[in-house]
Amino acid sequence: MKNVAVLTSGGDSPGMNAAIRAVVRTGLYYNLNIFGVKKGYEGLLSNDIKKMNASSVGDIIHKGGTFLKTSRSEEFMTENGRKKAVENLKTRNIEGLVVIGGDGSFRGAQTLSREGIATIGIPGTIDNDLAYTDFTIGFDTAVNTVLEAVTKIRDTSTSHEKTTIIEVMGRYCGDLALYAGICGGAESIIVPEDPLHIDEIAGRINKGKERGKLHHIIMLAEGAGDAKSLQKDLIDKTGESARISVLGFIQRGGDPTAGDRLLASRMGVKAVEELLKFNSSKVIGVRNNQLFSEDIDQALGKKKALDTSIYSMAEILSL
Ligand code: F6P
Repeated sequence: MKNVAVLTSGGDSPGMNAAIRAVVRTGLYYNLNIFGVKKGYEGLLSNDIKKMNASSVGDIIHKGGTFLKTSRSEEFMTENGRKKAVENLKTRNIEGLVVIGGDGSFRGAQTLSREGIATIGIPGTIDNDLAYTDFTIGFDTAVNTVLEAVTKIRDTSTSHEKTTIIEVMGRYCGDLALYAGICGGAESIIVPEDPLHIDEIAGRINKGKERGKLHHIIMLAEGAGDAKSLQKDLIDKTGESARISVLGFIQRGGDPTAGDRLLASRMGVKAVEELLKFNSSKVIGVRNNQLFSEDIDQALGKKKALDTSIYSMAEILSL
């Protein structure tokens, strides 16, 4: 293996830059030619591929987003699109590709590997929705970003003695709501993995009021329901109109935490080392703080489950 490319795809996540840097520098360390692909799979189609050197990735480890840019490419999903992508890689003799992204991006890598391009995936998403790995790059930063918002919202909720619904991202995974909810001391956490129990939440709000609680924070994962309809149901049950804060894209930005920079750096090194061992169609993961690689098929076949030991803690701690 002599020529390797790297791209970021799907929703960006803090730490992607640190991962790109690690891939580029590790490749150079092992005397490979490393290419950066712009805008994810779109760049493979438009041939927006540039050779990188050590300075190409200087001064980016601390920055959020992805300097290679990203996209969700419709054209790459088609057979013709993928043919074009493979041609553009083969013209440059690029034999290996590191894909940094989530499950959709990994599916793209899987199809490319069937066309003879060795692919390795690095999990980059704020959602932490990949079952095969304990953590994805960007999740820790997103939890901290949400937490900062919760802390501020708590001040005003307490001052006005209000219930606030904070809606967070995460797609169909409740991890972001759960981790930020536990760390922010939320009174209720609603995740897609456990159906919404409106009576239980209303009961908790009323019980809190009885014991003189000045606020009630509800962390709502976007995949668990809609903040507006929850607000409406709560008016019916408690007589109170809760405030709504939808945090939105702020959750995807920001400087990566030390944890995300370290995870990204470790995974970037490991991804290139896998290519050097002629491995393909694999994803890098972390379990119990140990890195490993696993077949993409196998990794994507696993169903993510909520960590019930943490979820049950929420019940105890929000008394
Ligand atoms: O996957 C990351 C994520 O931010 C999700 O949490 C969210 O549902 C989605 O992307 C938003 O996607 P888009 O950028 O396409 O609006």
